[in-house]
Amino acid sequence: MARIIDGKLVSQAVKDGVKEQVSLLNSKGVSVTLAVIIVGDDPASRIYVNNKKKACEATGIISREYALPADTSLEELLALIEKLNNDSEVNGILCQLPLPEGLDEKAVITAISPEKDVDAFNAVNTGHIMIGDYTFLPCTPAGITEMLDYYDIPVRGKHCVVIGRSNIVGKPMAMLLLKRDGTVTICHSKTENLADITRQADILVAAVGRAKFVSADMVKEGAVVIDVGMNRDADGKLCGDVDFEAVEKKASFITPVPGGVGPMTIATLMKNTVIAAKLQNGLL
Ligand code: GUN
Repeated sequence: MARIIDGKLVSQAVKDGVKEQVSLLNSKGVSVTLAVIIVGDDPASRIYVNNKKKACEATGIISREYALPADTSLEELLALIEKLNNDSEVNGILCQLPLPEGLDEKAVITAISPEKDVDAFNAVNTGHIMIGDYTFLPCTPAGITEMLDYYDIPVRGKHCVVIGRSNIVGKPMAMLLLKRDGTVTICHSKTENLADITRQADILVAAVGRAKFVSADMVKEGAVVIDVGMNRDADGKLCGDVDFEAVEKKASFITPVPGGVGPMTIATLMKNTVIAAKLQNGLL
């Protein structure tokens, strides 16, 4: 039976550290502010944004929300980002994705100043991640490595298999595992004989976006299984990309959904916002 990797516990430890740092910065007269942009009324995005605001409150970070209607034009959105780029009170800018259809995500991500890009989605920051030299870590992958560290799970020399090749999770996850001397395989929807590859994984990261996609026969006995998914099952219940009940019996460690990776993503965002504030105040 696997040990549960408790994302709530680890994220609380990270947020406690952030709170201390914010309070230290405040004592030097430096405030920390995150601007969060949400366009349209996607219910999942609303929940994510509310959770980010709650985490700001808990850590002493000032959050400013910009809720724009779904019919906002790209020009209007870019004008807001430009205003926030030039606002010295704002340390971090985050535009919640996905954007409503028709709005060019790449243009929006590119418009955010790299020094304020606390998601680390901008090409400048992803380039830094690629060469292993970064200021901002991508939130979800960094949250995952933080969990591995907390539970003393070694990466060096291990076969790490990442299912999913998104710019937000799969690709940067592979880079962070590689930086820690993992042997990394990235699988995706066109991968042939997927189960043959996932069965070789010492560390398996599932970022597929399909409910209970990873079954027990895809997992090696004793593997560490990290579930990035956030889906609804046939009964409408929240579930991950991994069939938790079955895989739990085989894995050595496993992250639950909810309460695994999700809280870590937000904790890393808080960490990045503090880094941004330090960077912009010459304190890094
Ligand atoms: N949508 C899903 N995950 C994320 C994230 O980490 N950041 C932003 N901005 N949007 C998201």
